Amino acid sequence: MKVAIVSGSVYGTAEEVARHAERQLKAAGLDAWHKANMSLDELLAFAPDALLTVTSTTGMGELPDNLLPLYSELRDRLPAMAGRPAAVLALGDSSYDTFCGGGELMRELYAELGLREAVEMLRLDSSETVTPESDAEPWLQALATALKG
Ligand SMILES: Cc1cc2nc3c(=O)[nH]c(=O)nc-3n(C[C@H](O)[C@H](O)[C@H](O)COP(=O)(O)O)c2cc1C
Repeated sequence: MKVAIVSGSVYGTAEEVARHAERQLKAAGLDAWHKANMSLDELLAFAPDALLTVTSTTGMGELPDNLLPLYSELRDRLPAMAGRPAAVLALGDSSYDTFCGGGELMRELYAELGLREAVEMLRLDSSETVTPESDAEPWLQALATALKG
């Protein structure tokens, strides 16, 4: 099972969590691959069976600049990925009304692509935790189980 991990990050936290996710999914026996600033052609060349997005939110509920090119390419080209499993790990701050809005944008895009949400989106709140990597571990384990099942 090939899992592409795309990430969007302003200050590097989501980037770090994405690298952690790659290590953990590999340890669980999945062929996980993460690359920051991935283009759609790179994503399609990997031929993923499943997609994981790890993204923070910036502005007022917006995606980080380094995920916008891939987001736009996916929306414009709508590659045939329907039915494949996908998941979103969203980092945000609940003091914003638009808590995890970037993650929500990716979920909407998944729906447009016909991707199936393998596990419910995880929202990590930076106003409550300073250890997002370890906080994500149980959810990543559940994702690995869902993908292997
Ligand atoms: C300028 C700015 C705007 C932000 N806007 C939002 C927002 O609209 N919604 C949200 O949930 N979090 C928002 N956040 C919080 C970040 O998403 C959160 O701190 C995240 O952990 C940062 O991850 P990163 O280091 O990968 O960018 C904002 C943070 C900053 C600095």
